[in-house]
Amino acid sequence: MKFGVLGWGLRSPVAQLAHRPDLGHELAVLADPREYARAKFKEANPQADAVDSIEELLSRDLDAVFVLTPDWLHEEHAIACLEAGKTIFLEKPMAVTAAGCDRILEARRRIGGRIYAGHNMRWFPVIRKMKEFIDQGAVGNVKAAWCRQYVAYGGEAYFCDWHADRKNTNGLLLQKGAHDIDILHWLCGSYSKRVVGMGGLEVYGQNQTRETFEEYENDHFRDTWPPSSLDRVNPGADIEDLNMILMELQNGVKASYQQCQFSPDSWRNYTLIGCRRRRAWRC
Ligand SMILES: NC(=O)c1ccc[n+]([C@@H]2O[C@H](COP(=O)([O-])OP(=O)(O)OC[C@H]3O[C@@H](n4cnc5c(N)ncnc54)[C@H](O)[C@@H]3O)[C@@H](O)[C@H]2O)c1
Repeated sequence: MKFGVLGWGLRSPVAQLAHRPDLGHELAVLADPREYARAKFKEANPQADAVDSIEELLSRDLDAVFVLTPDWLHEEHAIACLEAGKTIFLEKPMAVTAAGCDRILEARRRIGGRIYAGHNMRWFPVIRKMKEFIDQGAVGNVKAAWCRQYVAYGGEAYFCDWHADRKNTNGLLLQKGAHDIDILHWLCGSYSKRVVGMGGLEVYGQNQTRETFEEYENDHFRDTWPPSSLDRVNPGADIEDLNMILMELQNGVKASYQQCQFSPDSWRNYTLIGCRRRRAWRC
């Protein structure tokens, strides 16, 4: 199989994993407008080509394409790949609007092809183990669920570049919360029908050291503490750095999701309570 890759940024390892010439799978071409990204790709994949446009990539003989571009480009790129007859691995979120997701699904129905969505948390061993316990009835019917996520690297990861601008991501409830809200739905066996919540740009909006936003190479994140010491904050930052939502699911389960992007350490915590006392588990 020959793979193409759209976008070689922080998420590039997910495509690199697929390069297994010993199994007959290889990365054949990258498209990325950034010279730095193309150079990094070529360093790791001397066998492949690096081009600067999706049109050029799609003119190649490829079986599938990894769509690893920023969120607001997913819709355009996913539909272009499907129209070119390619199977796609599409990073989450599928698109930045529900209408955008519908257009991707409509294209798939019209054209055919396969979409693998980048909801990789469904493959985390700890999540799969929780799902297994719940499906075995270990806590009875789930009645309530909580997920709290504290992110120490949130400033660095989401407030210095394109993520910080709402039009690019629709905010971190989708950008980041897409994983945990999906997992809550999966573990609880239903989808939200009613949601209330609140949030705000509590810290990074007041950052006094904002510089003019320019592209920079964030190959890794630093935990920045205190958050007010973070420089290079995107001056257009208009997304929340704190979110708290409550969800009522169609099956009646009550769930809660909270994220904080300026915490002193990183932690993700799931709690699910059902109608039965839990049995003793051996993990
Ligand atoms: N599943 C996960 O756990 C997970 C984790 C992090 C990010 N993501 C998602 O992966 C995607 C990529 O995130 P990232 O952190 O790697 O972003 P990034 O900014 O590090 O990299 C994006 C790359 O896309 C390139 N790009 C921009 N416009 C392009 C275009 N028109 N054609 C081709 N390439 C283009 C950029 O130059 C950059 O190299 C995002 O949608 C993000 O939400 C998923």
